Amino acid sequence: MAEVTPDVKALPKAEAWRQLAQQAHAVLEGVDDQVSAMATISCLVHHGLGLLWTGFYRVVTPGTLLRVGPYQGTLGCLEIAFGRGVCGAAAATLKTQIVPDVNAFPGHITCDGRSASELVAPVFGPHGELIAVFDLDSDRLGAFDEVDRQGVEALLRWFTRP
Ligand code: SME
Repeated sequence: MAEVTPDVKALPKAEAWRQLAQQAHAVLEGVDDQVSAMATISCLVHHGLGLLWTGFYRVVTPGTLLRVGPYQGTLGCLEIAFGRGVCGAAAATLKTQIVPDVNAFPGHITCDGRSASELVAPVFGPHGELIAVFDLDSDRLGAFDEVDRQGVEALLRWFTRP
């Protein structure tokens, strides 16, 4: 197991995500625990990419309510309703949301005023059910693109394992 979280900021994005997934699978080998996986993935992605806030909101009432789970960064809000903010949009639509400028997103929920852009991906469990959303916040405008979406979605497939 690696002793430090690898810094992948300088790598081309596709390679960065490949290495993050490789690290996550190595650290989580033999682990069958969603919370441990959320904590590990938050840590690797947050420090690897140098983000502002990185973490999970879990579905606590299907179709209705998300509650904060493992994360890295400053204090996150505790609960988000489906349909509210970027996280709520990802939960309600089951689609990854890429927001290049959070100030241009109607209803964006500000947890940290330094946040400039955001990516939120749905997290599916072994039966295809929505179990959480994974929220990445950057202090740079337009930090996330299609390559990030593919990388995040590939990493999150860990949670679909039976
Ligand atoms: N910005 C998010 C809320 C969560 S925090 O940024 C940690 C949103 O609009 O859903």
